[in-house]
Amino acid sequence: MAKRRATITAVGHYAPSKILSNADLEKMVDTNDEWIRTRTGISERHILENGATSDLGVGAIQAMLAHRKIEPTEIDIIIVATVTPDMFFPSTACIIQDKIGAKNAWGFDLSGACSGFLFALHTGAQFVENGTASKVLIVGADKMSSITDYSDRNTCILFGDAGGAVLLELSEDPEYGILDNRLYCDGAGGPFLNMKGGGSLNPPTHETVDKRMHYIYQDGKPVFKAAVKGMADVSAEIMERNKLTGDDVSWLVPHQANLRIIDATADRMGIDRSKVMINIDRYGNTTAATIPLCLSEWWLSGKLKRGQNIVLASFGAGYTWGATLVRWSLENPKP
Ligand code: COA
Repeated sequence: MAKRRATITAVGHYAPSKILSNADLEKMVDTNDEWIRTRTGISERHILENGATSDLGVGAIQAMLAHRKIEPTEIDIIIVATVTPDMFFPSTACIIQDKIGAKNAWGFDLSGACSGFLFALHTGAQFVENGTASKVLIVGADKMSSITDYSDRNTCILFGDAGGAVLLELSEDPEYGILDNRLYCDGAGGPFLNMKGGGSLNPPTHETVDKRMHYIYQDGKPVFKAAVKGMADVSAEIMERNKLTGDDVSWLVPHQANLRIIDATADRMGIDRSKVMINIDRYGNTTAATIPLCLSEWWLSGKLKRGQNIVLASFGAGYTWGATLVRWSLENPKP
């Protein structure tokens, strides 16, 4: 019997209109445009002024539904990858379910930080492939500005807000769709990238606020080293497992944390820069949203085509990291 294979049958993204440029940040902390661009590749980020992560997710879903005309009531499961849920509970998946009127769906949030989208994609694919769901909505959305300390120049230059969404369904042709996944985590990396306050370990108090524990903490150097190794190793691993060379891969779709990490991964895979999706310059690091945001932009532009092999790759807090091999099945949007 041929394998049942999940595939991406729709994609959408949303970024709020307000822009925070490097020039704006120069007025807020001791930094400069040249340092930010050369050390990270970022020029500007989008910031959600009013609203929450669910609104970023809903924006992405609406963009997706504009191309794939299904009723929200047809959706079976909603999985939201985020580290900035609207609240601890109810889940952002429940809030999105209500906002879009997905009356027949159940769902949950998944915390995988910058690898959250890949973790959610693999999770959602299981339901499609085992036949318990036919339409699974995967959302990667983060309002990183809600946990960014705009007095800390080490981190505030890096992050932005956005949402991305994809629909998973059974592939008509098992040669297309999500072909392979390699996902990892290593909790020993936790001390280097985290948000210490607000959870059961450090519930919110005046002290946790005074100590700025409700913001992202990052020790950049060890994270950078681990990210270069983790993302490059897992991307090379997924190519070896599937006997692919750089020539066989049409696109590397990397998590957008730092252009230098992306470059190192592409070099390790033997992939030319022209085949790497890069939009970090315009969005910064939007955590769970980076990968679906790239997929949606490249698909809309017509550059991501049916039949292409693409490698999605990520690294983030946890540490978490992974790579997913996809043979793209979605035809280009109608002009
Ligand atoms: N503007 C100007 N100078 C800055 C600065 C800024 N925004 N931020 C830091 N600096 C300074 C530092 O204070 C340091 O100064 P010092 O040498 O006098 O102490 C100097 O620049 C170099 O800092 P360093 O931390 O070595 O820079 P870096 O090249 O490692 O780049 C990051 C910093 C954060 C961009 C980089 O470490 C990084 O990308 N880390 C990983 C991010 C990531 O992948 N996260 C995982 C996924 S979320």
